[in-house]
Amino acid sequence: MGDISVSQQYGPIGIFDSGLGGLTILDGIRHRMPQYDFIYLGDNARAPYGTRSFDVVYQFTLQAVRKLFSMGCPLIILACNTASAKALRSIQHNYLPQTFPDRRVLGVIRPTAEIVGTLTHTNHIGILATEGTIRSESYNLEIQKLYPATTVVGQACPMWVPLVENGEYDKPGADYFVRDSIQKLLNADPQIDTVILGCTHYPLLLQKIRQYTPEGITLVPQGKYIAESLEDYLQRHRDMEQSLTKGGTCQYFTTESSEKFRESASLFLHESIKVAHITL
Ligand code: DGL
Repeated sequence: MGDISVSQQYGPIGIFDSGLGGLTILDGIRHRMPQYDFIYLGDNARAPYGTRSFDVVYQFTLQAVRKLFSMGCPLIILACNTASAKALRSIQHNYLPQTFPDRRVLGVIRPTAEIVGTLTHTNHIGILATEGTIRSESYNLEIQKLYPATTVVGQACPMWVPLVENGEYDKPGADYFVRDSIQKLLNADPQIDTVILGCTHYPLLLQKIRQYTPEGITLVPQGKYIAESLEDYLQRHRDMEQSLTKGGTCQYFTTESSEKFRESASLFLHESIKVAHITL
């Protein structure tokens, strides 16, 4: 598709999500590392990704990665668990080495897996995520690779993303679905003491999730940990760090209507933003 490898590329960090949820990751990263420039790209026109097949998520994610590379990003974070679960490995192993060997694409599953093993005392970990992420078993595989003595149980929450996207996350109707999924998870393994919120939308439901989670269970939203992990990565990869521009800016792009994105983004961000429409 005409990709050209450029040996030294200076530019912003690209943050990709299927829609709005990745803003929780962007927020965590910008809070910790405000000096960098960022481009946020949400594929809102084709969200949600959570119920789509491996192949479709891979194709969509690859299109977004190409677009962010063409906009000059040396480094892209797939701030979407579903894309990280279904597309990251193929992009890293099959696409990057041939087309952009000097650029990098990182996901959110590995950093979350790394941290969660240090938080559990019972070695029983629960995952709440989209159907796609749970079915991929990516979390189970990553966590058990790092912490083989751990039991990992997942519960898909197909209603949670629509509740957030439709602005119902703080309304009484959300209570039923939040309570139901948490109960199912804890019934499947009552020894769970640490629960990953394995979807970028879920921090918006945090208040209700806390309400229906028994005390003593640690909830793990991702933004803070992804930011810490990225900072660590950039300390270890100085060439990449040097290639990131540092003007403290953030540009927003969506495949849907920019006005719609701007309005919905106010649920996630506490500043008014400018958004541009883009096609992939
Ligand atoms: N952002 C996605 C994730 O973290 C959830 C939304 C979707 O299904 O597209 O898994």
